[in-house]
Formats: sequence, C-alpha cells, structure tokens
Amino acid sequence: MLCLGIESTAHTFGCSIISSNKEENDKSNKNNDDLVLSEVRDIYKANAGWGIHPKEASKHHAQVASKILKECLFKAGVNIKEIDLISYSAGPGLGPCLRIGAIIARSLSSFYNIPLIPVNHAIGHIELGIKLTNLVNPLTLLVSGGHTMILVFYKNKWRVFGETLDITLGQLFDQVGRNMGFASPCGNKIEELSNTSEKNSVYPLPYVIKGNDVSFSGLLTAVKNLIKSKKYVIADICFSLQETAFSIIVEAVERALSFTEKKEVLIVGGVSANNRLSQMLQEACKYHSSIFKSCPLQFCGDNGTQIAWTGLQEYIYCPNSKVDPDKAPISQSWRLDTVDVLWR
Ligand code: KG4
Ligand code: ZN
Repeated sequence: MLCLGIESTAHTFGCSIISSNKEENDKSNKNNDDLVLSEVRDIYKANAGWGIHPKEASKHHAQVASKILKECLFKAGVNIKEIDLISYSAGPGLGPCLRIGAIIARSLSSFYNIPLIPVNHAIGHIELGIKLTNLVNPLTLLVSGGHTMILVFYKNKWRVFGETLDITLGQLFDQVGRNMGFASPCGNKIEELSNTSEKNSVYPLPYVIKGNDVSFSGLLTAVKNLIKSKKYVIADICFSLQETAFSIIVEAVERALSFTEKKEVLIVGGVSANNRLSQMLQEACKYHSSIFKSCPLQFCGDNGTQIAWTGLQEYIYCPNSKVDPDKAPISQSWRLDTVDVLWR
C-alpha cells in the first residue's frame, strides 16, 4: 500500500509517501529501511525576535504546498493515481495552518477518489517513534512546541502520566531564543550556544515539579531577567537553562518510571533532537535498568511520515477511521488521550 501523509499543524509543511504491505506492517517485522519512499518538508521561519504568526505560517504553507507535493511524488517515483490512502494532520495545531493541509488532502481525496484519514499529530510523533526504534511498550516523553507530556499506553489509549502545567519545553526554548533576538523555532540555536559555554557554573534558576507534572513559566521569567540584566554570558545562560529545564523533566520521567517500572523509555517530538536531553535521560534509564531510545534525528521535528504511518495504522485497524472529504474535520485542541489506538 502507498500512503501519502500531509503535515501542516504549525511551522512545517511536509509530505511523505510510505510503502507498506501487510507483512511490513507486521509488528514482528523490524526492517524499516524501505518504509519511507520520500519525505519533503519546508519550515516557516518567523522574523528575528518573533514567534510563529499563524496567518503568515499558513500563507507559507499555501505557497510551498504544490512544490512540496510534486517533489515528494517525484522522489518516490509515484503517480498520485497510484496512492492508496491519504492521511492529514487534523490537530492539535494552529487553525489557519491545519486548514491548508486539510484543504489539500480533501481536494486530492475527492478528485482522485482516494480514502482519507484524519490523524492526531501527537499520536503521529509517538507511533512513528515506536515504529522506528522497534520498542514495544515504552514510557514515552513527548516534548515539542505543542506538548510536554509523559505517556503510558493502557487499554487502547495513550494515557497522560504527567504534563506541563503551563508552557511546553519547546515554547520555553523558543521564547528564550526570541528574547535573545533569534527567530522561532530556535531550540537548536539554544543547544548550539550551550555547547559553546565554559560550563563552569549553572546559574540558580527556579526548579518546579509537582508530582509527575512540571512547570516552566517561572524559569522563563527568570531567564528573561538574566538576559535583560546584560550581566551574564549568553552561552552560559543557555547552558543553565538546558541543565535546569532538563533536570526537571528527567526527574518527572524518573518518578513515572519508578511507579510504572517500564523497561523501555522513548523520547519523541522536536525537542528530542537535543543531545543533552538524550544524554540525561540515558543516564537516568541506566539507573532504572531501562532501555532508552530517541526518535531518529530526521524524524524528531514535524514531518509527513508520522502522519502517513499513523494514518495507515488507523486505516488497517480502526474500522471507522475513514472520513468523507466534504466532512473531513480539523480540531485545534484535539487531546491525544481521547484517541483510540486499536493497533497496539
Ligand atoms: O515537534 P515539533 O517540530 O513541532 C511541534 O509539534 O510543536 O517541535 C518544535 C519544537 C520547537 O519549539 C523547537 O525550538 C524545538 O522543537 N527544538 C529543539 C531542538 N530542535 C528543535 N529544542 C531543543 N533543542 C533542539 N535541538
Ligand atoms: Zn509536532
């Protein structure tokens, strides 16, 4: 089967074509080499010092969409008429951005008479992460611009074991970066700068964890104050920010790990690209005798493959997943713990 996945929830417009037959889809098949036929994306960059502007991002998506789709088909060596299934990210995300992906998916589906599947973007991050790491039943940390959640799979759903009480890790990094004059998304810039720090000291910063939940808004205010004071080296601020924020989230993961006694831990989402976070989680997992894996770097950030893969699972295992193109929904605040996951 050939499945086209369309991603457009926030800054990224991406398309991917995956190929999977029944055996490749089989959980015992661990070879992912020929799963992805092509994967193309383009990321909207805000102006320096600014965050993502939903309307501007949606304009970006509308402008690049046909080029990305054509390139994706070309690289896969596939004609659109050969596609068996179209899936699109239906939420959660920014309304104007979601609308672009949904319009394209609906049009292709109705014109070429191809089944259409709406996919929850966050479930896409998790399910692709599991597929590509070959883990079976991991405690999962989803860290991105839209999510900071610790999750466990139980009775057909991904259950939230802990989450942020205010801003996400991605928002924390992006807002700090913007304060330093960078353009959002800027988590990778913070990591780069942190790597240039002398690392002699971590500036004392607010450290808030409540049970399995975390809070980063006080940390953000404190870091903004450090930047404003102009008394501190920017690289050292980035280093201190990373050490503090990651210690908080790793402690929350450890609490969940002690309780659930899971033997596998997975990290997914844009922030999982951060090497220091992976290193800290790896150390914590060693202590708990759990295997740690991170989503492969290429698939940490938003991509069409997470949507294509999850759409395919929905199509095969969930009888009512197909939607009529004229009724295909989008939802800006679609929580992942409401989604039935019947293939796990
Ligand atoms: O998953 P993603 O692409 O989009 C959402 O679903 O939100 O995640 C984007 C987030 C942004 O906040 C970006 O700054 C952050 O991931 N990010 C990083 C790194 N690379 C991307 N954060 C920390 N370190 C990185 N290396
Ligand atoms: Zn995402």
